[in-house]
Amino acid sequence: MDAIRFVLNGQEVSYEGSASDRLLDVLRNTYRTTSVKCGCKEGECGACSVLMDGVLVNSCCVAMGAVEHSSIVTMEGFRDTERYAVLDRAFAEISAVQCGFCIPGMVLAAEALLVKTPHPSDEEIREGLSGNLCRCTGYNAIVHAVSSAAKEGEGLW
Ligand code: FES
Ligand code: FES
Repeated sequence: MDAIRFVLNGQEVSYEGSASDRLLDVLRNTYRTTSVKCGCKEGECGACSVLMDGVLVNSCCVAMGAVEHSSIVTMEGFRDTERYAVLDRAFAEISAVQCGFCIPGMVLAAEALLVKTPHPSDEEIREGLSGNLCRCTGYNAIVHAVSSAAKEGEGLW
């Protein structure tokens, strides 16, 4: 079988496994991008969120065959950016992180939202993060953190 070529966090990679393998498993087990979490494996929790050609997807629902020639960004790649620094600071200052399990997915969901909607209302933030579940912090602090990042990072998105 031909290798599946794609770009992972800016680096070209070539995956030798099956086209039916899950992107989530490949990211964690083959490429060790363990910021991508496994919650439900059913597309319900958002813990496995990644950006695929700039679009937020649940990697547990994406087969490797669909990944060919695409660009995948996980938190390992996103955290080198200025936009990540602004989001990270806002989440920390507002205490929007407890166990941290949901945070990579939340931050990538916030990034996807802010690219499309740089000045979101709280309602739009809730909608943008609605596929990502948090079991411990509570959503008010997370919404507040994203709102604050959007203001602090004016011009970055
Ligand atoms: S592990 Fe993919 S949505 Fe829950
Ligand atoms: S901070 Fe624990 S699940 Fe969100």
